[in-house]
Amino acid sequence: MIEQISKQKIFDVIKSIDSKIVQKIIIFDEVTSTNNEAKKLIQNGEEEGTIILALTQKTGRGRFQRIWESPKGGLYFSIILKPTVSPEKTTLLPLVGALAVSSTLRSYGLSAEIKWPNDVRVRKKKIAGILLESDAYKSHLHYVILGIGVNLNIDINVLSDEIKNKTTSLFQEHHAVDYVKFLKELLLQLDTYYLLFLNEEYETIISEWKKQSDTMNRRVKIVSSTDEIIGAAYNVDNSGFLLVITDSGEYKKIMSGDCLYFDEL
Ligand code: BTN
Repeated sequence: MIEQISKQKIFDVIKSIDSKIVQKIIIFDEVTSTNNEAKKLIQNGEEEGTIILALTQKTGRGRFQRIWESPKGGLYFSIILKPTVSPEKTTLLPLVGALAVSSTLRSYGLSAEIKWPNDVRVRKKKIAGILLESDAYKSHLHYVILGIGVNLNIDINVLSDEIKNKTTSLFQEHHAVDYVKFLKELLLQLDTYYLLFLNEEYETIISEWKKQSDTMNRRVKIVSSTDEIIGAAYNVDNSGFLLVITDSGEYKKIMSGDCLYFDEL
């Protein structure tokens, strides 16, 4: 099932796409984490638009210090971004990433849905995730690393028991897909939504995001390291923050946390 991925084909695709953000790609057979590699490259002056892609990761990282299992067949990459925006604007970028992934999956006929802020799921099972890491000093944003992992041509049975039941892949839902074609489509989608971001078309992004998300009007439990909030999710603002009305009628703006749906607990 795992196709032989041609690095040359990937280089050719990157050259052929007319993209504002994608400038170059660096491909590894295996890394610890593409986000780690991106960080190292940035320290050596790497500029916006470089993609670091690996066929497998030894210690792929997810949100909340979770492990992102990264067997061969999956798509793992990080893109270096250096938008000239203030650091607080970057909170929208994980939603931009999720939207690009979800749109790509939908173009393959899958009913992908986004769980706030950036979990992409199919039939309530996670198929892709986004890990954003950034560095800023005061009002100056140094860089953003947008790490994207998609369970592409993966047999779910190779994953650990811990995540097997709540995870799916394109192979599982559809059939094995052409890795390079999928990457191309995803980068084009990313380009579209990132341009909207650069043009400050935040409302358009949020409205698209809401169309592809199943979080609105859901009873949710948001778990963070300091807090647990239970209520109804009624909106997402232009920063990508989730607006919740709690059971006691309090309005809360949630900036980060693990979003759980009550009907799935
Ligand atoms: C999550 O949903 O928890 C986020 C998962 C992000 C995984 C990707 S794979 C490419 C990049 N490198 C990493 O180590 N993590 C991200």
